[in-house]
Amino acid sequence: MSAAVGAGGTALAAASQVWCAERYSADCGFVAELGEVILAWLAPRPGERILDLGCGDGVFTAKLVPSGAVVVGVDAAPDMVEAARRRGLDARVADAHALDLGETFDAVISNAALHWMKEPDRVLAAIARVLRPGGRFVAEMGGFGNVATIRVAIHAALARRGLDGAALCPWYFPTPEEHAQRLVRAGFRVERLELVPRPVSVASGMHAWCANFTDSYQWALPEGDRAAFVDDVVALLEPVLRRPDTTWSADYVRLRFLATRSPE
Ligand code: BEZ
Repeated sequence: MSAAVGAGGTALAAASQVWCAERYSADCGFVAELGEVILAWLAPRPGERILDLGCGDGVFTAKLVPSGAVVVGVDAAPDMVEAARRRGLDARVADAHALDLGETFDAVISNAALHWMKEPDRVLAAIARVLRPGGRFVAEMGGFGNVATIRVAIHAALARRGLDGAALCPWYFPTPEEHAQRLVRAGFRVERLELVPRPVSVASGMHAWCANFTDSYQWALPEGDRAAFVDDVVALLEPVLRRPDTTWSADYVRLRFLATRSPE
């Protein structure tokens, strides 16, 4: 960890999560694969203008291009945006809480990004502003119960050190009811919304998962204790999330929705 920045769909909320495109691309290929369902829900059409909110390194964004849609990606993490640009994408650094791109879109898609944004009403209002009336908003994010086992282990390891994990938690994992209400309040009609347990294999292991995603907790620790903290988390998780064949499973729960922006 070297500097605190907002990030990958993370915008201002996770002000202390650091995104390193190289590390992310080595360890987190499964994230873009998880987005296949919402890609199908979006069903992008040639010529449509589509915004990928929290585009990260652009691996998922690039999957929209063959449809013939005109694709723009935004992310708060400059390192991720650079990586997306290297893929030839139109990617821009932007804070999702205050989007002002000077243009509107036919659709907004977001994969595994919204749960990093801890002011959801501001984000939804910003998305409503950039969508044309009738435009589609399709997203997948962590929902209620997401990474619950991992969070318990993190919080336990922090409690041993006298720290309150709940206060440091960088994530927003809403229930379907809560998020549907927020969407309606922001001016969307909810067409479909589901909460689905979706365990994922983490091929690079739990140390790598913690290295990629737990900065917000680790910043609260003295530098010399961070490696021991991660070792403690992994040791707590090993009996429950490590399979007999030694591969790791993470207890993801996805909240997916398709909403349309109501006419003015
Ligand atoms: C997720 O995609 O659900 C997720 C990723 C990293 C940390 C927490 C949740």
